[in-house]
Amino acid sequence: MRINSYQEYKEVYQKSVENPSEFWNSIAEQFVWRKKWDKVLEYDWSKPSTKWFLNAKLNITENCLDRHLKDKGDQIAIIWEPNDPKEDAKHISYKELHSQVCAFANVLKNNGVTKGDRVCIYMPMVAELAVAVLACARIGAIHSVVFAGFSSTALAARINDATCKVLLTADGSFRGNKITPLKDIADEALKTCPSIEKTIVYQRTQQEISWNPSLDVWWHEELEKVDNHCPAEEMDSEDMLFILYTSGSTGKPKGMVHTCGGYMVYTAYSFQNVFQYKQGDIYWCTADIGWITGHSYIVYGPLSSGATTVMFEGVPSYPDFGRFWEVCEKHKVNQFYTAPTAIRALAKHPTELIDKYDLSDLKVLGTVGEPINEEAWHWYDDYVGKNKCPIVDTWWQTETGGMMISSLAGITEDKPTFATLPLPGIQPVLLDHDGTEISETKAEGILAIKHPWPSLARTIYGDHERYKNVYFSAYPDHYFPGDGALRDENGNYRITGRVDDVVIVSGHNLGTAPIENAINEHEKVVESAVVGFPHDIKGNALYAYVITYDGVEENDQLIKEVREVVSNTIGPIAKPDKIQFVKGLPKTRSGKIMRRILRKVASNDISNLGDVSTLLNPEVVEDIIENKL
Ligand code: WT7
Repeated sequence: MRINSYQEYKEVYQKSVENPSEFWNSIAEQFVWRKKWDKVLEYDWSKPSTKWFLNAKLNITENCLDRHLKDKGDQIAIIWEPNDPKEDAKHISYKELHSQVCAFANVLKNNGVTKGDRVCIYMPMVAELAVAVLACARIGAIHSVVFAGFSSTALAARINDATCKVLLTADGSFRGNKITPLKDIADEALKTCPSIEKTIVYQRTQQEISWNPSLDVWWHEELEKVDNHCPAEEMDSEDMLFILYTSGSTGKPKGMVHTCGGYMVYTAYSFQNVFQYKQGDIYWCTADIGWITGHSYIVYGPLSSGATTVMFEGVPSYPDFGRFWEVCEKHKVNQFYTAPTAIRALAKHPTELIDKYDLSDLKVLGTVGEPINEEAWHWYDDYVGKNKCPIVDTWWQTETGGMMISSLAGITEDKPTFATLPLPGIQPVLLDHDGTEISETKAEGILAIKHPWPSLARTIYGDHERYKNVYFSAYPDHYFPGDGALRDENGNYRITGRVDDVVIVSGHNLGTAPIENAINEHEKVVESAVVGFPHDIKGNALYAYVITYDGVEENDQLIKEVREVVSNTIGPIAKPDKIQFVKGLPKTRSGKIMRRILRKVASNDISNLGDVSTLLNPEVVEDIIENKL
């Protein structure tokens, strides 16, 4: 499955474009299926509908677990590194992981979960989170992992959107020197979640929690009631595997739906090729399993490849900013995958914090989540990689399921700030504003993908119309990811950033609309507009323009309250860095807020605001500039 040379990449890529079905057929052959497919691909993006490996039967956990038992049952599947370096790491072999997954799958069954039920998972980065995800997959339940930094309101919205039947959570979580009371937050959420019939609580922090005997059961007590035999449920290739929410530019979060067969094939294929993972290597992705990066490249991709994957409970700054490197040394990490925002934060600290540790096992460095700036790229290359590790800058999304544009470590060339070339099977194009494909190699435009790949999200849970509108309507017959890109003369892509109202803050994808809605909930607020502006460490930060009611005192207390309302509704990550009270917002005659102007003001780029004469209320622009922060 792994490509070994540049020449081979070129040949394989060519084949994958000329005959995608034949190409993916040969890749899929290398997995364990209960029954093979009748047809590789069927699609119609006018609907839009995409199906891969039609009528094939499988269970993804048989690929992630059972098939490794014979040859590498004793090999370590997961190395779990705790928040506190004084606590012992866990080394879980494939055999043990298989057994834990089967046991917990039985716990789920005992608590009423059956195939097709949705299970919400709101947990810290403990090894049991990976076990829970796989246990759902084992019995054909659909997991919906909600990042444990989200607020109770955000959690409730996600539980209700998917009408989840069971919630898996923990008493609390350790992250750095912070303890987050997950159970309290979950309890608050459940006040508005009538579909939840059971909450299974993992004990991690041992803090005091309230207990609802008709709903709550302890994870460890439930485990005492089961054995570790659990045959895998037979799934259709196109059955749902999971739902994962991502922010949209408007309204509520989008529950992206991924299916079993294609997702399995693509995450394993991309994992092995991009990271050039070799058997025995130790691979570490620092993401949280609450994001797609964790789903695809901590759990499914590595495990279906028989890899050893590191899971880290903590944060890069605890006990100090050397923690990542300490963990790399301790576990002899070979491939290290993190986000530009983490790199920028680490680069602010003295390099002695790196030099203290032996990083000689590192072979490959990766980045994901947002464009990486030149400076951060070189810092990563110089100080972490010692100029001997290729850097894979992997462009992809929750919706794409797997990495789409990236160099293959040491096989194709990397280029600072460029994601570089598409993976085999991926056909990116650049479009101009009318949707015409730009034929020149060196060009800048809107990024789109013109042919299906196996791990594309198939729909938005409960809202296929929105799926169609967001991804397939702007440019017919193309998947539209919402990013702009430029291409150099060699065909390398550099992602230039979002072309819609999504802002990436510290690698978290945030829609501005839900933040505005939250701010507008404040009783003293009439209306607001939120935009991103460049930030040294976070990449982008949020700037909120807020209009208050007449007579309201616009003071620090109100700023604090506005930030709090955002934190409570969405999560601390969405709190605006800057809040400016304004008399009005620049609007077009059709009533649309002219965000372009607000973005420029927030970015201190007011020399060229463009034409403001078409505005309904050009006078407000003066006021906004005069009082900008
Ligand atoms: C958006 C998707 C994929 C997992 C993490 C984020 C941006 C992602 C890169 C990259 C430039 C990137 C894009 C994309 N993005 N990777 N290597 N270079 N931009 O997943 O939350 O679904 O966000 O992240 O704007 O559309 P996500």
